[in-house]
Amino acid sequence: MTRGLAVSADAIFQRCIHPTCGGTAAMDDTSFACPKCGGLLDVAYDWNRLQPPTSLTWFERKWAERSDPLHFSGVWRFRELLPFAPPEKIMTIGEGQTILQKADIVGQFVGLNPGCLFLQYEGMNPSGSFKDNGMTAAFTHARMVGANRAACASTGNTSASLAVYCSATGLMRAVIFIGSGKISYGKLAQALDHGALTVQIAGDFDDAMQRVQQVSKKLGIYLVNSVNPYRLEGQKTIMYRILEAMRWEVPDWIVVPGGNLGNVSSFGKAFIELMELGLIKRPPRLAVINAAGANTFYQLYERFGLRWNNGAPKKDVVDGYFRSLDVEKIRAATIASAIEINHPVNLNKALRALDRCGGVVREASDQEILDAKAKVGAGGLGCEPASAASVAGAKKLRREGIIAPSDRVVCILTGHQLKDPTATIAYHSTDQKTFDDVLGHRGVRRATYANRAVQVPNELDDIIKAIELYS
Ligand code: F0G
Repeated sequence: MTRGLAVSADAIFQRCIHPTCGGTAAMDDTSFACPKCGGLLDVAYDWNRLQPPTSLTWFERKWAERSDPLHFSGVWRFRELLPFAPPEKIMTIGEGQTILQKADIVGQFVGLNPGCLFLQYEGMNPSGSFKDNGMTAAFTHARMVGANRAACASTGNTSASLAVYCSATGLMRAVIFIGSGKISYGKLAQALDHGALTVQIAGDFDDAMQRVQQVSKKLGIYLVNSVNPYRLEGQKTIMYRILEAMRWEVPDWIVVPGGNLGNVSSFGKAFIELMELGLIKRPPRLAVINAAGANTFYQLYERFGLRWNNGAPKKDVVDGYFRSLDVEKIRAATIASAIEINHPVNLNKALRALDRCGGVVREASDQEILDAKAKVGAGGLGCEPASAASVAGAKKLRREGIIAPSDRVVCILTGHQLKDPTATIAYHSTDQKTFDDVLGHRGVRRATYANRAVQVPNELDDIIKAIELYS
């Protein structure tokens, strides 16, 4: 049975997230800003006309039809919950084959009972990060509106993902904006290898983000950053796959690193819609973890008490905060380069998500992030520094008693370990200079869980002795 596939343009449109504004835009509009107030837009559905499924177990029937690429994709097998694209327009490269792994060793580090910590490993995507969930959706929309160039600003993963989709399909030219010296080698390598036009600007991600919005508008290039609400539609499916892996039971907590705040926004929308459709009874709680060196969301939410406030977050609080960053010349700075962002574009959507899902925000220092990362690695899954912020944050919330030892907690591992080997090697290095050069100036003092290489002369006896001693 096929449901929800007839795309009727007026049943799908874009709508301002602020309920009192009422601004809307057509499904094919690519300005990605409310025409009335300039705010963020959602992709909105008139569910009454789209026939969504009446139970989540309904999706299981697609497992038997994995030879169909739209059922194989971990994004599009849920397409009745993101029904904006006609099947023939969908661009999939097999994204979303990711796993939810029970992780007791890491769970012990976090302070949870056995069987309570789960890691959602998004590093298994074709480009090695969660971004592919969103990119397949944005790319599909770009194709629906006839775009032939797509652009993004990136700390590395969005650009890698865009480069992969453009090169794999040959349908579009990728134009990527990166800050100078701000991108890890693994991610830069991907952009270059996959043939993206790479524009390295003298500035950081926040500068690049501003520029790419200006340039896309001027040149009519399709923008794939997470201000694009179609991208967030794809990222909702990370939550569907978690529910699926938990046999459709809702966990107590979803913990996610926060940068531009696209992920948490899409997770919130996923749960708000599942509630509206009567497909779940309660949402999980959401925890967003900033790096301490890029902690705008933490400051605004936890220190200044900024809230969604029925769609009217206090603008003077936000403006005042950003003014103080400018006056004090504070730029984002963290070893977790993927989330080195001080001006998150999805701030208001993230506030809505936390409002509806009982959210909290915490910050984790670079020391805490790297220690958590080493524990995640020792527990069997390799992630990049930003991803480990989720585990570091869960540990903190557990210590504070906000997460209980028996809560079922899912930490999102957003990107693969090999994205950023520099930080990993420095952490485990026997060489103090390597450690200091990469980590020392960031306040990282110890490699608490380092697994150091053993240096031995090239002599059989010495090698055997060393193995006997250390194994
Ligand atoms: N984790 C990783 C590995 C990321 O690459 C990003 C964002 C995040 C977490 C934060 O997610 O922005 O949805 O809050 N990377 C973007 C990029 C900014 O350009 O690749 P978010």
